[in-house]
Amino acid sequence: MNVDLIIYNVGQLVTCASNGFAKKGAAMQDVGLIANGAVAVKDGVIVAVGNSDDILREYKTENLIDARQKVVCPAFVECHTHIVFAGDRINEFELRIKGATYLEIMEAGGGIVSTMKHTREANLEELVQQSRKRLDQLLKLGVTTCEVKTGYGLSTKSELKMLEAIISLQEIHSIDLIPTFLAAHAVPPEFKDNPDDYVNLICEEMLPKVKQTIQDSGLRTQNCFADVFCEKNAFNLEQSKKVLLAAKNLGFKLKAHVDEFTNLGGAQMAIELGAVSIDHLDTISDEEIELLAASETIGVITPTVNFNFGSTEFADARKMIDKNCAIALSTDFNPGSAPCPSLPNAMAIACRYQKLLPSEALSAATVNAAVAVGLGEKVGSIEVGKQADILILDAKDYRQLAYEFGGNCIQTIIKNGKIAVEN
Ligand code: NIG
Ligand code: FE
Repeated sequence: MNVDLIIYNVGQLVTCASNGFAKKGAAMQDVGLIANGAVAVKDGVIVAVGNSDDILREYKTENLIDARQKVVCPAFVECHTHIVFAGDRINEFELRIKGATYLEIMEAGGGIVSTMKHTREANLEELVQQSRKRLDQLLKLGVTTCEVKTGYGLSTKSELKMLEAIISLQEIHSIDLIPTFLAAHAVPPEFKDNPDDYVNLICEEMLPKVKQTIQDSGLRTQNCFADVFCEKNAFNLEQSKKVLLAAKNLGFKLKAHVDEFTNLGGAQMAIELGAVSIDHLDTISDEEIELLAASETIGVITPTVNFNFGSTEFADARKMIDKNCAIALSTDFNPGSAPCPSLPNAMAIACRYQKLLPSEALSAATVNAAVAVGLGEKVGSIEVGKQADILILDAKDYRQLAYEFGGNCIQTIIKNGKIAVEN
């Protein structure tokens, strides 16, 4: 059979194969290694995976890549980002060094609301140009699918502007984007004294308009998510549930920021609503870990946030995996709590501080992250039928990804069977 591309002579072909499902618990250690492997691609889709000699015998192409015994693995899926924003929060970075906490800065009118001001002031073109650079950074670091949240507009007009920015970015960028509507990220100043009115505005006006905008857009993935920041000084349990329920009734898939600082019961609430993922999980209870393990919800950890805060305390992901949860890993790339585009750095931190094995961290950044954005059948592993989104590493051992930090051992990024970046 003639194909468009064969990558052969792969020392470690790390497939992360999982049949479209998330890897739970001990299965996260099984990254599906094939020694001396090869992959064949046709029309942007993987058509064969196996032993190098077998593939070269059965498939023919003019386009051969000799991996020279290096590692080939699935491209990363970044399942939780806030990359559309204007401005920066460098001043807050200094305030925190001097001792202020994230929640204190938020109470004093900084934090998310400060980025909201810059984001409201920026026009669509400025937002797109600034965010495009962040997507370029992500691509160089191996990401070919990326979830992107709104949540710095916090008014109908500005939230829709953020959504339009995501739609425009999809038109100009090769990374596949999944939009998540997060107007329930912070209460904007104009609703400071009546946050419930803001919640009503989200439910009654914003959600239906967002739904319509996504339907009318040419977005490559029609998955759309709604999310909420269930936290002290953000949205309480009742408000969070109201937003998620309204979203669910309109056909949105659900995500929730829960237990970043304070356990308000958001994890249980979101699992019971059938959320695709619950994210952060620093203060999740043992009972909620049991619920998570028994559910289909993915637990997303974001250790870059703790690192950014100079903390040595992290979500207990080791316990969650040992209790059979499916864990995904994200940078949470955003201007405040995690100005970090690097999933390999997130892996490095998760391994050192949360005691994930490199294999578990890789499953968390690929196959499980794919399920966390509703694309478990399409991306996140090297399996027949999946999109050919593949990385070639400048390494002989896939564990280099987490072992090294601060560098970039990703040599070639292949998107839909074509070389997108050569580092
Ligand atoms: O995931 N927690 C809420 N949202 C982000 C922070 C966003 C910001 O600080 O701008 C997070 O940590
Ligand atoms: Fe976040």
